[in-house]
Amino acid sequence: MPSGRLALSLALTVVLSSALGAYVTYKVLLRPERVIANYHRWYHRNAAATFNNTHWLGVPTQKSPLDTWIFQEIIHEVKPDVLIEAGTYKGGSSFYYASLMDLLQKGRILTVDIEDYPGKPPHPRIQFLLGSSTSAQIIDQLKAAIRPGESVMVTLDSDHHAAHVSAELDLYHSFVTPGSYLVVEDTHFNGHPILPNFGPGPYEAVEAFLKSHPEFERDRTREKFGMSFNPGGWLKRVR
Ligand SMILES: C[S@@+](CC[C@H](N)C(=O)[O-])C[C@H]1O[C@@H](n2cnc3c(N)ncnc32)[C@H](O)[C@@H]1O
Repeated sequence: MPSGRLALSLALTVVLSSALGAYVTYKVLLRPERVIANYHRWYHRNAAATFNNTHWLGVPTQKSPLDTWIFQEIIHEVKPDVLIEAGTYKGGSSFYYASLMDLLQKGRILTVDIEDYPGKPPHPRIQFLLGSSTSAQIIDQLKAAIRPGESVMVTLDSDHHAAHVSAELDLYHSFVTPGSYLVVEDTHFNGHPILPNFGPGPYEAVEAFLKSHPEFERDRTREKFGMSFNPGGWLKRVR
């Protein structure tokens, strides 16, 4: 082959393979779902800088700000009389909900934890309950604290093993009033997309629960920001 034609065919090969490489990168590696999943994994790997370093008015909360914004939108829409939270930790999430309720001038929080972490912020809208979320004593205290006709929202953020979450779903779903939400947190465990070796977790508990509870539906619109710690875990009581 004359040297001019050889150079041209080499140049064409280089251009075509670069274009193919760029196309594959764009279509496969930079697919939005893949970018989101990778960001999600990065966020979790960097816990010390991210969810273990997130505060509401100085109080730690283990939430993603993308999810707290969604909580704000739901609380504004539903305006529950009562929000039950399983898993208080240091109180940052309940303090956040209480601050929103201050703005709305409506609502109170009943938050349960098996551990009594120091430094929880006292707030007139928050009642801290100490014990396991699935114990008969705690369920009795919750029932006694809710008045007939009050609207109720629930968020489950305690022990994330499927057996515990399933027990919580059995005990807590009937507190949720029609039109309100039952949020099952950390459904991202067990490879959805983080912690692939966790074993059955909240996601699997939700899958099992929904089979026998048609009154609840997944509200995927609550995952509009792409990354949520609760994929498939924003459950709306539709009837
Ligand atoms: C992920 S943290 C909660 C985070 C908190 N909601 C926030 O956003 O800041 C989980 C909490 O669940 C609590 N926990 C674990 N097992 C529990 C159980 N059986 N009953 C109630 N709380 C439990 C832990 O002590 C821990 O404080």
